[in-house]
Amino acid sequence: MGEIAAEYWKRRKGFILAAIGSAIGLGNIWRFSWLTYRNGGGAFLIPYFIALLIVGVPLLILEFLLGNYFAGSSPKVFRKIRDNLEIIGWIAILDVFIIGTYYAVVLAWVFDYIWLSIIYAPQLASGTLSASRLFGNLVTNPWLVLLGLAVTWFITWYTVFRGVSEGIEKASLVAIPLLWILSIILVIRGVTLPGADTGINWYLSPDFSKLTSGSVWIDAFGQILFTLSIMAAPLIVYASYMPKKSELPNSAWITAFANCGFSFFFGFATWGIIGYLMSLKNVTSPAALNIPLGGGGLAFITIPTAMSQLPGGPSVAAVFGLIFFLVLWLAGYTSLISIIEPVYAALRDKFGVTRRQTVTAVTIISFIIGLIFVFDPDMIDPVDFTVGSTNLVWIVMLEAAVAGFYLGVKKLREYANPYAELKLGAWFDYLIKYAAPISMAVILFYGLWYAKAQVVVYSIVQAGKTVMINAPGTVNGVHPVSLIVMVALLIAAILVTGFKWRTKIEETGIAEV
Ligand code: PHE
Repeated sequence: MGEIAAEYWKRRKGFILAAIGSAIGLGNIWRFSWLTYRNGGGAFLIPYFIALLIVGVPLLILEFLLGNYFAGSSPKVFRKIRDNLEIIGWIAILDVFIIGTYYAVVLAWVFDYIWLSIIYAPQLASGTLSASRLFGNLVTNPWLVLLGLAVTWFITWYTVFRGVSEGIEKASLVAIPLLWILSIILVIRGVTLPGADTGINWYLSPDFSKLTSGSVWIDAFGQILFTLSIMAAPLIVYASYMPKKSELPNSAWITAFANCGFSFFFGFATWGIIGYLMSLKNVTSPAALNIPLGGGGLAFITIPTAMSQLPGGPSVAAVFGLIFFLVLWLAGYTSLISIIEPVYAALRDKFGVTRRQTVTAVTIISFIIGLIFVFDPDMIDPVDFTVGSTNLVWIVMLEAAVAGFYLGVKKLREYANPYAELKLGAWFDYLIKYAAPISMAVILFYGLWYAKAQVVVYSIVQAGKTVMINAPGTVNGVHPVSLIVMVALLIAAILVTGFKWRTKIEETGIAEV
Protein backbone atom coordinates (compact mmCIF):
# COMPACT_ATOMS: atom_id res chain seq x y z
CA MET A 1 0.00 0.00 0.00
CA GLY A 2 1.60 3.17 -1.16
CA GLU A 3 0.61 6.60 -0.11
CA ILE A 4 -0.26 9.50 -2.34
CA ALA A 5 1.63 12.51 -1.07
CA ALA A 6 -0.53 15.53 -0.36
CA GLU A 7 -0.21 18.24 -2.98
CA TYR A 8 -0.31 21.95 -2.26
CA TRP A 9 -0.13 25.27 -4.04
CA LYS A 10 3.29 26.89 -3.68
CA ARG A 11 1.85 30.33 -3.02
CA ARG A 12 -1.52 31.77 -2.17
CA LYS A 13 -1.29 33.81 -5.35
CA GLY A 14 -1.18 30.56 -7.32
CA PHE A 15 -4.37 29.34 -5.67
CA ILE A 16 -6.19 32.62 -6.28
CA LEU A 17 -5.06 32.84 -9.91
CA ALA A 18 -6.13 29.24 -10.51
CA ALA A 19 -9.53 29.97 -8.98
CA ILE A 20 -9.83 33.10 -11.14
CA GLY A 21 -8.78 30.94 -14.10
CA SER A 22 -11.63 28.56 -13.41
CA ALA A 23 -14.09 31.40 -13.05
CA ILE A 24 -13.09 33.44 -16.08
CA GLY A 25 -14.18 31.44 -19.07
CA LEU A 26 -16.24 31.57 -22.21
CA GLY A 27 -19.19 32.81 -20.14
CA ASN A 28 -17.43 36.04 -19.21
CA ILE A 29 -16.64 36.90 -22.77
CA TRP A 30 -19.68 35.97 -24.74
CA ARG A 31 -22.45 35.81 -22.22
CA PHE A 32 -22.16 38.55 -19.63
CA SER A 33 -22.29 41.66 -21.82
CA TRP A 34 -25.05 40.16 -23.91
CA LEU A 35 -27.14 39.45 -20.81
CA THR A 36 -26.50 42.98 -19.62
CA TYR A 37 -27.60 44.49 -22.93
CA ARG A 38 -30.69 42.30 -23.06
CA ASN A 39 -31.72 42.79 -19.46
CA GLY A 40 -31.77 46.54 -19.03
CA GLY A 41 -28.17 47.60 -19.61
CA GLY A 42 -26.67 49.30 -16.57
CA ALA A 43 -29.81 48.45 -14.62
CA PHE A 44 -28.91 44.76 -14.92
CA LEU A 45 -25.87 45.44 -12.77
CA ILE A 46 -28.25 45.78 -9.81
CA PRO A 47 -29.63 42.21 -9.83
CA TYR A 48 -26.19 40.98 -10.87
CA PHE A 49 -24.56 42.67 -7.90
CA ILE A 50 -27.25 41.48 -5.52
CA ALA A 51 -26.83 37.91 -6.82
CA LEU A 52 -23.09 38.26 -6.39
CA LEU A 53 -23.39 39.44 -2.81
CA ILE A 54 -26.16 37.25 -1.50
CA VAL A 55 -25.33 33.96 -3.19
CA GLY A 56 -22.15 34.29 -5.29
CA VAL A 57 -19.59 35.31 -2.72
CA PRO A 58 -21.14 33.32 0.17
CA LEU A 59 -21.20 30.13 -1.90
CA LEU A 60 -17.68 30.73 -3.15
CA ILE A 61 -16.52 31.13 0.44
CA LEU A 62 -18.50 28.03 1.39
CA GLU A 63 -16.84 25.92 -1.32
CA PHE A 64 -13.40 27.16 -0.28
CA LEU A 65 -14.13 26.29 3.35
CA LEU A 66 -15.62 22.86 2.59
CA GLY A 67 -12.68 21.86 0.42
CA ASN A 68 -10.09 23.10 2.84
CA TYR A 69 -11.75 21.80 6.00
CA PHE A 70 -12.31 18.28 4.66
CA ALA A 71 -9.15 18.31 2.52
CA GLY A 72 -10.58 16.62 -0.52
CA SER A 73 -12.97 16.47 -3.43
CA SER A 74 -16.76 16.70 -3.21
CA PRO A 75 -17.62 12.98 -2.78
CA LYS A 76 -15.25 12.88 0.17
CA VAL A 77 -16.60 16.15 1.56
CA PHE A 78 -20.22 15.04 1.38
CA ARG A 79 -19.41 11.60 2.74
CA LYS A 80 -17.66 13.12 5.70
CA ILE A 81 -20.65 15.32 6.37
CA ARG A 82 -22.92 12.29 6.31
CA ASP A 83 -22.36 8.81 4.84
CA ASN A 84 -25.39 8.67 2.60
CA LEU A 85 -24.74 12.08 1.05
CA GLU A 86 -21.73 10.92 -0.96
CA ILE A 87 -23.86 10.72 -4.10
CA ILE A 88 -24.28 14.50 -4.24
CA GLY A 89 -20.53 14.76 -4.65
CA TRP A 90 -20.53 12.26 -7.51
CA ILE A 91 -23.38 14.01 -9.27
CA ALA A 92 -21.32 17.20 -9.20
CA ILE A 93 -18.21 15.40 -10.42
CA LEU A 94 -19.99 13.61 -13.26
CA ASP A 95 -21.67 16.87 -14.16
CA VAL A 96 -18.43 18.80 -14.46
CA PHE A 97 -16.92 15.88 -16.38
CA ILE A 98 -19.69 16.12 -18.98
CA ILE A 99 -19.31 19.92 -19.18
CA GLY A 100 -15.66 19.30 -20.08
CA THR A 101 -16.54 17.10 -23.05
CA TYR A 102 -18.26 19.91 -24.98
CA TYR A 103 -16.45 22.89 -23.45
CA ALA A 104 -13.30 21.42 -25.01
CA VAL A 105 -14.99 21.24 -28.41
CA VAL A 106 -15.78 24.95 -28.29
CA LEU A 107 -12.13 25.54 -27.39
CA ALA A 108 -11.17 23.37 -30.35
CA TRP A 109 -13.02 25.79 -32.65
CA VAL A 110 -11.22 28.67 -30.98
CA PHE A 111 -7.89 26.92 -31.37
CA ASP A 112 -8.52 26.33 -35.05
CA TYR A 113 -9.32 30.00 -35.52
CA ILE A 114 -5.99 30.93 -33.97
CA TRP A 115 -4.15 28.39 -36.02
CA LEU A 116 -5.82 29.28 -39.31
CA SER A 117 -5.28 32.97 -38.82
CA ILE A 118 -1.57 32.29 -38.42
CA ILE A 119 -1.36 29.93 -41.39
CA TYR A 120 -3.33 32.30 -43.60
CA ALA A 121 -1.73 35.45 -42.19
CA PRO A 122 -0.31 36.56 -45.58
CA GLN A 123 -3.66 36.17 -47.33
CA LEU A 124 -5.48 37.86 -44.46
CA ALA A 125 -2.94 40.66 -44.38
CA SER A 126 -3.15 41.29 -48.10
CA GLY A 127 -6.92 41.24 -47.98
CA THR A 128 -7.28 38.36 -50.45
CA LEU A 129 -9.07 36.34 -47.80
CA SER A 130 -11.61 37.67 -45.32
CA ALA A 131 -11.52 36.44 -41.75
CA SER A 132 -15.20 35.66 -41.68
CA ARG A 133 -14.95 33.64 -44.87
CA LEU A 134 -11.97 31.68 -43.61
CA PHE A 135 -13.74 30.91 -40.38
CA GLY A 136 -17.08 30.29 -42.00
CA ASN A 137 -15.97 26.91 -43.28
CA LEU A 138 -14.48 25.73 -40.04
CA VAL A 139 -17.33 24.24 -38.07
CA THR A 140 -18.42 22.34 -41.15
CA ASN A 141 -15.07 20.60 -41.29
CA PRO A 142 -15.09 18.11 -38.42
CA TRP A 143 -11.58 16.87 -39.17
CA LEU A 144 -10.14 20.26 -38.48
CA VAL A 145 -12.15 20.46 -35.27
CA LEU A 146 -10.88 17.03 -34.34
CA LEU A 147 -7.34 18.25 -34.68
CA GLY A 148 -8.09 21.34 -32.59
CA LEU A 149 -9.69 19.12 -29.99
CA ALA A 150 -6.67 16.84 -29.84
CA VAL A 151 -4.33 19.79 -29.33
CA THR A 152 -6.60 21.41 -26.73
CA TRP A 153 -6.84 18.21 -24.76
CA PHE A 154 -3.13 17.55 -25.10
CA ILE A 155 -2.23 20.91 -23.58
CA THR A 156 -4.82 20.55 -20.84
CA TRP A 157 -3.75 16.98 -20.13
CA TYR A 158 -0.11 17.99 -19.86
CA THR A 159 -0.96 20.80 -17.44
CA VAL A 160 -3.02 18.67 -15.08
CA PHE A 161 -0.69 15.68 -15.48
CA ARG A 162 2.18 17.76 -14.05
CA GLY A 163 0.29 18.33 -10.84
CA VAL A 164 -0.99 21.15 -8.70
CA SER A 165 2.04 23.39 -8.25
CA GLU A 166 4.07 22.36 -11.30
CA GLY A 167 1.16 22.22 -13.72
CA ILE A 168 -1.99 24.11 -12.74
CA GLU A 169 -0.29 26.80 -10.67
CA LYS A 170 2.41 27.56 -13.23
CA ALA A 171 -0.11 27.65 -16.07
CA SER A 172 -2.36 30.04 -14.13
CA LEU A 173 0.52 32.33 -13.19
CA VAL A 174 1.24 32.82 -16.89
CA ALA A 175 -2.21 32.52 -18.47
CA ILE A 176 -4.20 34.84 -16.24
CA PRO A 177 -1.92 37.89 -16.35
CA LEU A 178 -1.52 37.35 -20.10
CA LEU A 179 -5.30 37.13 -20.45
CA TRP A 180 -5.66 40.50 -18.73
CA ILE A 181 -2.92 42.17 -20.78
CA LEU A 182 -4.40 40.98 -24.06
CA SER A 183 -7.87 42.03 -22.90
CA ILE A 184 -6.63 45.51 -22.02
CA ILE A 185 -5.30 45.82 -25.57
CA LEU A 186 -8.69 44.79 -26.96
CA VAL A 187 -10.58 47.16 -24.69
CA ILE A 188 -8.34 50.08 -25.65
CA ARG A 189 -8.83 49.27 -29.33
CA GLY A 190 -12.57 48.77 -28.79
CA VAL A 191 -13.32 52.01 -26.98
CA THR A 192 -11.25 54.15 -29.33
CA LEU A 193 -13.02 52.96 -32.48
CA PRO A 194 -15.31 55.41 -34.25
CA GLY A 195 -18.84 54.80 -33.00
CA ALA A 196 -17.68 52.93 -29.90
CA ASP A 197 -19.59 55.25 -27.58
CA THR A 198 -22.89 54.35 -29.25
CA GLY A 199 -22.23 50.66 -28.72
CA ILE A 200 -21.20 51.17 -25.11
CA ASN A 201 -24.35 53.19 -24.57
CA TRP A 202 -26.40 50.23 -25.71
CA TYR A 203 -24.40 47.99 -23.38
CA LEU A 204 -24.81 50.14 -20.29
CA SER A 205 -27.52 52.77 -20.52
CA PRO A 206 -29.97 51.67 -17.84
CA ASP A 207 -33.56 50.68 -18.38
CA PHE A 208 -34.90 50.18 -14.88
CA SER A 209 -38.31 49.03 -16.06
CA LYS A 210 -36.77 45.67 -16.99
CA LEU A 211 -36.06 44.92 -13.34
CA THR A 212 -39.70 44.05 -12.76
CA SER A 213 -39.30 40.97 -14.93
CA GLY A 214 -38.51 37.75 -13.09
CA SER A 215 -36.42 36.41 -15.91
CA VAL A 216 -33.95 39.27 -15.51
CA TRP A 217 -33.33 38.25 -11.92
CA ILE A 218 -33.02 34.62 -12.86
CA ASP A 219 -30.49 35.49 -15.54
CA ALA A 220 -28.48 37.36 -12.91
CA PHE A 221 -28.50 34.54 -10.35
CA GLY A 222 -27.87 31.86 -12.96
CA GLN A 223 -25.00 33.77 -14.52
CA ILE A 224 -23.38 34.23 -11.11
CA LEU A 225 -23.29 30.47 -10.48
CA PHE A 226 -21.90 29.60 -13.89
CA THR A 227 -19.38 32.41 -14.09
CA LEU A 228 -17.93 31.69 -10.65
CA SER A 229 -17.82 27.93 -11.41
CA ILE A 230 -19.93 27.33 -8.31
CA MET A 231 -21.07 23.73 -8.64
CA ALA A 232 -19.47 21.74 -5.84
CA ALA A 233 -16.56 20.54 -7.93
CA PRO A 234 -13.63 22.73 -9.14
CA LEU A 235 -13.34 25.16 -6.26
CA ILE A 236 -13.74 22.62 -3.48
CA VAL A 237 -10.75 20.77 -4.87
CA TYR A 238 -8.68 23.88 -5.50
CA ALA A 239 -9.19 25.00 -1.89
CA SER A 240 -8.21 21.55 -0.61
CA TYR A 241 -4.71 22.25 -1.91
CA MET A 242 -4.28 25.21 0.41
CA PRO A 243 -2.61 24.21 3.67
CA LYS A 244 -4.75 24.21 6.79
CA LYS A 245 -4.85 27.50 8.65
CA SER A 246 -4.88 29.48 5.43
CA GLU A 247 -6.68 32.67 4.63
CA LEU A 248 -9.77 31.75 2.62
CA PRO A 249 -12.66 34.25 2.80
CA ASN A 250 -10.74 37.17 1.36
CA SER A 251 -9.37 34.93 -1.38
CA ALA A 252 -12.97 34.25 -2.34
CA TRP A 253 -13.78 37.97 -2.46
CA ILE A 254 -10.73 38.59 -4.63
CA THR A 255 -11.67 35.74 -6.99
CA ALA A 256 -15.26 36.97 -7.30
CA PHE A 257 -14.32 40.58 -7.99
CA ALA A 258 -11.56 39.71 -10.43
CA ASN A 259 -14.00 37.53 -12.32
CA CYS A 260 -16.96 39.88 -12.38
CA GLY A 261 -14.70 42.87 -13.00
CA PHE A 262 -13.26 41.06 -15.99
CA SER A 263 -16.72 40.45 -17.46
CA PHE A 264 -17.70 44.08 -17.03
CA PHE A 265 -14.40 45.35 -18.41
CA PHE A 266 -14.39 43.04 -21.42
CA GLY A 267 -17.88 44.24 -22.31
CA PHE A 268 -16.28 47.53 -23.36
CA ALA A 269 -14.20 45.74 -26.00
CA THR A 270 -17.19 43.82 -27.30
CA TRP A 271 -19.58 46.76 -27.38
CA GLY A 272 -17.01 49.20 -28.67
CA ILE A 273 -16.61 46.87 -31.62
CA ILE A 274 -20.36 46.43 -32.01
CA GLY A 275 -20.72 50.22 -31.99
CA TYR A 276 -18.08 50.46 -34.68
CA LEU A 277 -19.95 47.94 -36.78
CA MET A 278 -23.15 49.94 -36.28
CA SER A 279 -21.45 53.07 -37.54
CA LEU A 280 -20.06 51.22 -40.57
CA LYS A 281 -23.46 49.81 -41.42
CA ASN A 282 -25.17 53.07 -40.56
CA VAL A 283 -27.74 51.51 -38.27
CA THR A 284 -29.03 52.99 -35.04
CA SER A 285 -29.64 49.87 -32.99
CA PRO A 286 -27.56 46.72 -32.46
CA ALA A 287 -30.57 44.58 -33.32
CA ALA A 288 -30.63 46.16 -36.78
CA LEU A 289 -27.22 44.62 -37.46
CA ASN A 290 -28.98 41.28 -37.65
CA ILE A 291 -26.01 39.38 -36.33
CA PRO A 292 -25.54 37.56 -33.00
CA LEU A 293 -24.64 39.80 -30.05
CA GLY A 294 -23.81 36.97 -27.66
CA GLY A 295 -22.76 33.33 -27.52
CA GLY A 296 -20.75 31.48 -30.11
CA GLY A 297 -22.30 33.63 -32.80
CA LEU A 298 -20.72 36.72 -31.27
CA ALA A 299 -17.32 35.08 -31.05
CA PHE A 300 -17.29 33.23 -34.35
CA ILE A 301 -19.31 35.53 -36.61
CA THR A 302 -19.79 39.05 -35.29
CA ILE A 303 -16.32 39.74 -33.87
CA PRO A 304 -14.41 38.30 -36.87
CA THR A 305 -16.67 40.26 -39.23
CA ALA A 306 -16.02 43.47 -37.31
CA MET A 307 -12.32 42.75 -36.92
CA SER A 308 -11.86 42.26 -40.64
CA GLN A 309 -13.03 45.85 -41.16
CA LEU A 310 -10.84 47.52 -38.56
CA PRO A 311 -9.11 50.74 -39.55
CA GLY A 312 -5.51 50.09 -40.58
CA GLY A 313 -6.16 47.36 -43.07
CA PRO A 314 -6.05 43.59 -43.16
CA SER A 315 -2.82 43.07 -41.22
CA VAL A 316 -4.16 45.06 -38.27
CA ALA A 317 -7.35 43.04 -38.54
CA ALA A 318 -5.38 39.79 -38.48
CA VAL A 319 -3.50 40.81 -35.35
CA PHE A 320 -6.59 41.86 -33.41
CA GLY A 321 -8.45 38.76 -34.52
CA LEU A 322 -5.60 36.68 -33.22
CA ILE A 323 -5.59 38.52 -29.89
CA PHE A 324 -9.32 38.05 -29.48
CA PHE A 325 -9.15 34.31 -30.04
CA LEU A 326 -6.12 33.98 -27.79
CA VAL A 327 -8.11 35.65 -25.01
CA LEU A 328 -10.99 33.28 -25.61
CA TRP A 329 -8.72 30.25 -25.65
CA LEU A 330 -6.78 31.22 -22.53
CA ALA A 331 -10.01 31.91 -20.65
CA GLY A 332 -11.42 28.54 -21.66
CA TYR A 333 -8.21 26.60 -21.13
CA THR A 334 -7.85 27.63 -17.48
CA SER A 335 -11.49 26.66 -16.96
CA LEU A 336 -10.97 23.30 -18.64
CA ILE A 337 -8.06 22.56 -16.30
CA SER A 338 -10.43 23.13 -13.39
CA ILE A 339 -12.86 20.67 -14.92
CA ILE A 340 -10.38 17.78 -15.17
CA GLU A 341 -8.66 18.27 -11.81
CA PRO A 342 -11.78 17.61 -9.67
CA VAL A 343 -12.61 14.48 -11.66
CA TYR A 344 -9.14 13.14 -10.94
CA ALA A 345 -9.28 14.26 -7.29
CA ALA A 346 -12.58 12.47 -6.70
CA LEU A 347 -11.29 9.21 -8.17
CA ARG A 348 -8.08 9.56 -6.17
CA ASP A 349 -9.98 10.12 -2.94
CA LYS A 350 -12.23 7.11 -3.38
CA PHE A 351 -10.09 4.61 -5.23
CA GLY A 352 -6.56 5.67 -4.37
CA VAL A 353 -5.58 5.94 -8.02
CA THR A 354 -2.52 7.90 -9.09
CA ARG A 355 -2.58 11.28 -10.82
CA ARG A 356 -0.76 10.47 -14.02
CA GLN A 357 -2.71 7.39 -15.02
CA THR A 358 -6.04 8.82 -13.97
CA VAL A 359 -5.61 12.17 -15.67
CA THR A 360 -4.56 10.39 -18.84
CA ALA A 361 -7.57 8.08 -18.75
CA VAL A 362 -10.03 10.87 -17.96
CA THR A 363 -8.64 12.98 -20.79
CA ILE A 364 -8.85 10.20 -23.34
CA ILE A 365 -12.43 9.35 -22.35
CA SER A 366 -13.42 13.04 -22.50
CA PHE A 367 -11.87 13.33 -25.94
CA ILE A 368 -13.78 10.30 -27.19
CA ILE A 369 -17.12 11.49 -25.81
CA GLY A 370 -16.37 14.90 -27.33
CA LEU A 371 -16.46 13.32 -30.81
CA ILE A 372 -20.25 13.43 -30.53
CA PHE A 373 -20.10 17.24 -30.41
CA VAL A 374 -17.43 17.47 -33.10
CA PHE A 375 -19.61 15.66 -35.58
CA ASP A 376 -22.91 17.01 -34.30
CA PRO A 377 -22.51 20.46 -32.70
CA ASP A 378 -26.29 20.66 -32.28
CA MET A 379 -25.96 18.23 -29.40
CA ILE A 380 -24.14 20.84 -27.31
CA ASP A 381 -27.23 22.86 -26.45
CA PRO A 382 -29.42 20.09 -25.05
CA VAL A 383 -26.53 18.58 -23.09
CA ASP A 384 -25.53 21.97 -21.76
CA PHE A 385 -29.10 22.63 -20.75
CA THR A 386 -28.86 19.73 -18.30
CA VAL A 387 -25.28 19.79 -17.04
CA GLY A 388 -24.33 23.42 -17.65
CA SER A 389 -27.39 25.09 -16.18
CA THR A 390 -30.23 23.09 -14.63
CA ASN A 391 -28.05 20.77 -12.61
CA LEU A 392 -25.88 23.56 -11.24
CA VAL A 393 -28.91 25.11 -9.62
CA TRP A 394 -30.11 22.10 -7.70
CA ILE A 395 -26.64 20.74 -6.89
CA VAL A 396 -25.78 24.08 -5.33
CA MET A 397 -29.13 24.22 -3.56
CA LEU A 398 -28.38 20.86 -1.93
CA GLU A 399 -24.82 21.88 -1.18
CA ALA A 400 -25.92 25.01 0.69
CA ALA A 401 -28.71 23.25 2.54
CA VAL A 402 -26.47 20.34 3.56
CA ALA A 403 -23.70 22.64 4.74
CA GLY A 404 -26.18 24.91 6.45
CA PHE A 405 -28.26 22.36 8.27
CA TYR A 406 -26.39 19.03 8.48
CA LEU A 407 -22.86 20.19 8.97
CA GLY A 408 -23.50 23.46 10.66
CA VAL A 409 -22.08 26.35 8.79
CA LYS A 410 -21.10 28.04 12.05
CA LYS A 411 -18.49 25.33 12.56
CA LEU A 412 -16.92 26.16 9.22
CA ARG A 413 -17.01 29.85 9.94
CA GLU A 414 -15.22 29.35 13.23
CA TYR A 415 -12.69 27.17 11.47
CA ALA A 416 -11.83 29.90 8.97
CA ASN A 417 -12.07 33.05 11.04
CA PRO A 418 -8.78 32.91 12.98
CA TYR A 419 -6.84 33.08 9.70
CA ALA A 420 -9.27 35.22 7.74
CA GLU A 421 -8.40 38.71 6.53
CA LEU A 422 -12.10 39.42 6.37
CA LYS A 423 -13.97 37.74 9.23
CA LEU A 424 -17.21 35.91 8.59
CA GLY A 425 -20.08 37.03 10.76
CA ALA A 426 -23.46 35.46 11.48
CA TRP A 427 -24.67 36.93 8.17
CA PHE A 428 -22.75 34.15 6.48
CA ASP A 429 -24.82 31.46 8.24
CA TYR A 430 -28.09 33.08 7.20
CA LEU A 431 -27.06 33.49 3.60
CA ILE A 432 -25.96 29.86 3.32
CA LYS A 433 -28.88 28.38 5.23
CA TYR A 434 -31.69 30.45 3.78
CA ALA A 435 -30.80 32.92 1.04
CA ALA A 436 -28.89 30.47 -1.16
CA PRO A 437 -31.22 27.44 -1.03
CA ILE A 438 -34.36 29.57 -1.30
CA SER A 439 -33.13 31.58 -4.27
CA MET A 440 -32.01 28.38 -5.99
CA ALA A 441 -35.40 26.79 -5.36
CA VAL A 442 -37.14 29.82 -6.86
CA ILE A 443 -34.91 29.72 -9.92
CA LEU A 444 -35.57 26.02 -10.42
CA PHE A 445 -39.29 26.36 -9.99
CA TYR A 446 -39.71 29.49 -12.04
CA GLY A 447 -37.17 28.44 -14.61
CA LEU A 448 -38.39 24.95 -15.22
CA TRP A 449 -42.11 25.27 -14.86
CA TYR A 450 -43.22 28.83 -15.26
CA ALA A 451 -40.86 30.00 -17.92
CA LYS A 452 -40.65 26.60 -19.58
CA ALA A 453 -36.96 26.38 -18.95
CA GLN A 454 -36.16 29.28 -21.20
CA VAL A 455 -34.34 31.40 -18.74
CA VAL A 456 -31.99 29.12 -16.87
CA VAL A 457 -30.28 28.18 -20.06
CA TYR A 458 -26.62 28.71 -20.70
CA SER A 459 -26.38 28.28 -24.37
CA ILE A 460 -22.79 27.66 -25.21
CA VAL A 461 -23.17 27.65 -28.94
CA GLN A 462 -25.73 30.33 -29.56
CA ALA A 463 -26.74 32.70 -26.87
CA GLY A 464 -30.15 34.01 -27.66
CA LYS A 465 -31.36 30.80 -29.11
CA THR A 466 -33.54 29.76 -26.22
CA VAL A 467 -32.70 26.19 -26.10
CA MET A 468 -34.90 23.48 -27.39
CA ILE A 469 -38.20 25.02 -26.48
CA ASN A 470 -40.77 23.75 -28.92
CA ALA A 471 -37.98 22.57 -31.16
CA PRO A 472 -38.81 19.56 -33.31
CA GLY A 473 -38.56 16.31 -31.42
CA THR A 474 -38.93 17.78 -27.95
CA VAL A 475 -40.91 16.28 -25.14
CA ASN A 476 -42.80 18.80 -23.01
CA GLY A 477 -40.42 21.53 -24.10
CA VAL A 478 -37.28 19.68 -23.12
CA HIS A 479 -35.08 17.99 -25.70
CA PRO A 480 -34.92 14.19 -25.25
CA VAL A 481 -31.14 14.38 -25.16
CA SER A 482 -31.34 16.62 -22.08
CA LEU A 483 -33.41 13.96 -20.34
CA ILE A 484 -31.19 11.10 -21.47
CA VAL A 485 -28.11 12.88 -20.14
CA MET A 486 -29.87 13.48 -16.84
CA VAL A 487 -30.88 9.83 -16.42
CA ALA A 488 -27.45 8.56 -17.48
CA LEU A 489 -25.75 10.91 -15.07
CA LEU A 490 -27.91 9.79 -12.15
CA ILE A 491 -27.39 6.11 -12.92
CA ALA A 492 -23.64 6.61 -13.16
CA ALA A 493 -23.67 8.51 -9.87
CA ILE A 494 -25.55 5.69 -8.14
CA LEU A 495 -23.10 3.11 -9.52
CA VAL A 496 -19.95 4.94 -8.56
CA THR A 497 -21.33 5.70 -5.12
CA GLY A 498 -22.00 1.97 -4.70
CA PHE A 499 -18.35 1.03 -5.12
CA LYS A 500 -16.36 0.32 -2.01
CA TRP A 501 -13.97 3.00 -0.75
CA ARG A 502 -10.43 1.81 -1.29
CA THR A 503 -8.93 4.53 0.84
CA LYS A 504 -9.11 5.40 4.50
CA ILE A 505 -11.26 8.38 5.32
CA GLU A 506 -9.20 10.36 7.78
CA GLU A 507 -9.72 13.81 9.12
CA THR A 508 -7.05 15.73 7.23
CA GLY A 509 -4.74 15.41 4.28
CA ILE A 510 -5.02 13.27 1.21
CA ALA A 511 -6.47 9.79 1.60
CA GLU A 512 -3.99 7.00 2.11
CA VAL A 513 -3.97 4.02 -0.17
N1 PHE B 1 -16.84 29.66 -15.14
C1 PHE B 1 -16.67 29.18 -16.47
C2 PHE B 1 -17.17 30.22 -17.47
O1 PHE B 1 -17.68 31.26 -17.12
C3 PHE B 1 -17.41 27.90 -16.75
C4 PHE B 1 -17.21 26.77 -15.80
C5 PHE B 1 -18.28 26.27 -15.11
C6 PHE B 1 -15.96 26.21 -15.61
C7 PHE B 1 -18.13 25.22 -14.23
C8 PHE B 1 -15.79 25.16 -14.74
C9 PHE B 1 -16.88 24.68 -14.06
O2 PHE B 1 -17.05 30.03 -18.66
